[in-house]
Amino acid sequence: MQNYIKVKKALEVYSPQEDTWFLTDTLVKYFDNLDRFNYKKLHVCEIGIGSGYISAVLGKIYPNINFVGVDVYFGAVELSYKNMIRWIQLNRFSLICSNLLNPFNPETFQPDVIYFNPPYVKTSINEYKNTTTPIIKTWAGGPSGTAVIHKFLENLKDFNFKTGFFVSSQFNDNETFEIKFKKNFRFKIINERKVEDEKLLCYQVILRK
Ligand SMILES: C[S@@+](CC[C@H](N)C(=O)[O-])C[C@H]1O[C@@H](n2cnc3c(N)ncnc32)[C@H](O)[C@@H]1O
Repeated sequence: MQNYIKVKKALEVYSPQEDTWFLTDTLVKYFDNLDRFNYKKLHVCEIGIGSGYISAVLGKIYPNINFVGVDVYFGAVELSYKNMIRWIQLNRFSLICSNLLNPFNPETFQPDVIYFNPPYVKTSINEYKNTTTPIIKTWAGGPSGTAVIHKFLENLKDFNFKTGFFVSSQFNDNETFEIKFKKNFRFKIINERKVEDEKLLCYQVILRK
């Protein structure tokens, strides 16, 4: 685990923590393994950008990546702007306040890579449906832990992209989405990390053509 950069924090915005660093490390490994000598321009999209930490780190390391970041909470969009502008030139990123990829047109929006550290903690239905506290929305995954992952995959299947990555936990009902979306995607757990009593999982997802 490596803490690559320091970022500003804000109330009600998810601060970088173990799952953030886990997804960052996984993505750094992935981009390192691509042909870096080629320096092909890559377009990536982060859903649930939070503080902007993951994309700021990637933008700092890989000058050939351009970013679109979205978050459902406007405070996160504001904060990620402040953190990303320290490391990435303005013409390399755009940020939008939106629910998943809803405002995008699948005909024209076709990023190479999409990644999401979603709310994945098992919670009661009441916590999951809490609409008044943005910070609860950053981690509450409903009774299965996968409620937001299901919505994400439902949305993602309309888009053309090369590969996607998202985080879940070993405690979650992961087989529910693996079964429901097996016609749409190939799933592979490409990284795991033990954090205290929990094991975090990073799924790679590829569209079935
Ligand atoms: C676990 S936090 C991760 C934040 C940051 N990417 C990180 O790893 O530190 C999940 C983020 O997803 C956002 N989010 C939750 N549901 C969303 C949705 N439907 N559409 C877009 N963003 C969402 C939350 O506001 C929060 O910023």
